[in-house]
Amino acid sequence: MNPIRALLLTMAGSPGWKKVLTGWGVTHRVVARFVPGESLDEALAAVRDLNATGMSATLNPLGENVTSVADATEGTEAYIEILERIAAEHLDCNVSVKLTVMGLDLGEDIALANLCRVLEVAAAHGNFVRIDMEASPYVDRTLNIWHQARVRFPAVGLVVQSYLRRSFDDIERLVPTGAAVRIVKGAYAESEAIAFADKQAVDTEYLRILDRLAEPDAIDRGGKVAVATHDPAMIEHGRRLIDANAMAGWEFQMLYGIGKSLQRNLVETGYDVRVYVSYGTSWYPWFMRRLAERPANLGFFLRHLLPWT
Ligand code: FDA
Repeated sequence: MNPIRALLLTMAGSPGWKKVLTGWGVTHRVVARFVPGESLDEALAAVRDLNATGMSATLNPLGENVTSVADATEGTEAYIEILERIAAEHLDCNVSVKLTVMGLDLGEDIALANLCRVLEVAAAHGNFVRIDMEASPYVDRTLNIWHQARVRFPAVGLVVQSYLRRSFDDIERLVPTGAAVRIVKGAYAESEAIAFADKQAVDTEYLRILDRLAEPDAIDRGGKVAVATHDPAMIEHGRRLIDANAMAGWEFQMLYGIGKSLQRNLVETGYDVRVYVSYGTSWYPWFMRRLAERPANLGFFLRHLLPWT
């Protein structure tokens, strides 16, 4: 892995660096590029603007890894509140959730019970919930919980990360289930034994997974696919597959504030685009992963830090 990326991902998990960096005003200014605000009202306003330009959204209140049952309940209720507000305001928006916010570190049963509370509310409103994929130690548990929840609630999807060596096998197991999968490259610090370190290998695997999901048996199972990336080469490949197979239900997904012209271009040419909108105060690890993804973001950060550069 690129050493700067590795350093930034290590800093993402460091309480010391968190204290330093979140204390700087400049960090808050750079974060504002990727996060429309700290409150749900601000996030909903951003969703309304996206809907007005023909894009749907998925909302995610920032936060991860709660350590008490009370915090897991609070995290669960935050997701429920978002679903209620989306319904009340008739927005074209679903919700992306993290199982560690609903207590996965405390036990699978707690996270599953909390997820089912969220899914019950989503079902009542005819909405959809996506389970984000977190670092590799959570993958098996996330797949397990998704399987169990989906028996009762069909409108729940998950995420597969192309940097993991295991992911193609996971996709083979998911295809017959008709799972709704979002394909991403993967954002966490992983060892080479678990994840491809080389960007080219991650990209090749991404395309291989998309191709697998466009095979006739996968299309027949009706699994919706979200091509979640800002990489023009991955997007172009996704477009070709959609055009060649007339695949309804496939959509592109990008993060708020990133690849805006790509987003506009896709909408203008008739593709479905959903923007992942994160908001809230617990942005530190999320922001560090965004810095790690692109050295230019670090440059942007440093330019704000050193205004004379
Ligand atoms: P790549 O990193 O190769 O970047 C391609 C190009 O995109 C760059 O050259 C640059 O132009 C642009 N770009 C990418 N990242 C940028 C950034 N931060 N700032 C500015 N420009 C940038 N991960 C995960 O592990 N679990 C998850 O559940 C999710 N969920 C998720 C949802 C959605 C909707 C998206 C778009 C992404 C995720 N991710 C994720 C993050 C994902 O794994 C990955 O880290 C980022 O999408 C960056 O990878 P790209 O595919 O964009 O390609």
